Amino acid sequence: MKLAPSIYTADFTNLGGQIKEAERAGVDAIHLDIMDGNFVPNITFGPLVCAAVARSTSLPCEAHLMINGPERYFQDYRDAGVSRITVHVETCPHLYSTIQDLRRLGLQAGVTLNPLTPLEAIRETLPLVDLVLIMSVEPGYGGQKYIPLSTQRIATVRRWLDEIGSQAELEVDGGVNLHTICAVRDAGASIVVVGSAVFNDKYSVADSVGMLRASLQDCRAAVNNDITA
Ligand code: DX5
Ligand code: ZN
Repeated sequence: MKLAPSIYTADFTNLGGQIKEAERAGVDAIHLDIMDGNFVPNITFGPLVCAAVARSTSLPCEAHLMINGPERYFQDYRDAGVSRITVHVETCPHLYSTIQDLRRLGLQAGVTLNPLTPLEAIRETLPLVDLVLIMSVEPGYGGQKYIPLSTQRIATVRRWLDEIGSQAELEVDGGVNLHTICAVRDAGASIVVVGSAVFNDKYSVADSVGMLRASLQDCRAAVNNDITA
């Protein structure tokens, strides 16, 4: 199971240090949550911060664009050092062309959808994309609770990907922590976004990542040991 920490809940007064800690702890990618205050109520950061993040790590950086008109910014994020961009189907009326645009820029193409957008909205994209992201919270904030109906959605997309022999990553984003990561893995996810489960004020980044890894080894033990439960 790959881990992609979201810097949304990181300490922005020490962002480089937090990213280096995550890299040393053995995570697999850095997840960048881009929010425009339109598609989602919140506003986060843009290509400038992504470029600083990309300079501070050798890990792949993926941008999760929770913005309207995402195609306007693909080149900016690519030039900032992002190697994968995931777009919301709700913001892409011309999704086939959007995926082509990502590929033309040499980017890996990801699609995602809100927790109650019908899965059929992404089914036709499966042969065309490098990653499918299942949102297990409403986009817009970190530290939210995992929406339980997401587990079945993960399993359904896993089945669809397997049926067509796709090698695309199946990523899950939102509320993934010691208590939910096993169910998410068992439903078929290959990579999880972890925000507050990695960047929080209870544990160091290294300990947080270690506990997530331990929970994947033995779900019962890790949850019992987690005093934040
Ligand atoms: C929510 C973002 C998620 C979020 C994850 O809109 O897409 O990546 O920051 O944070 P946690 O893991 O705390 O739910
Ligand atoms: Zn995200």
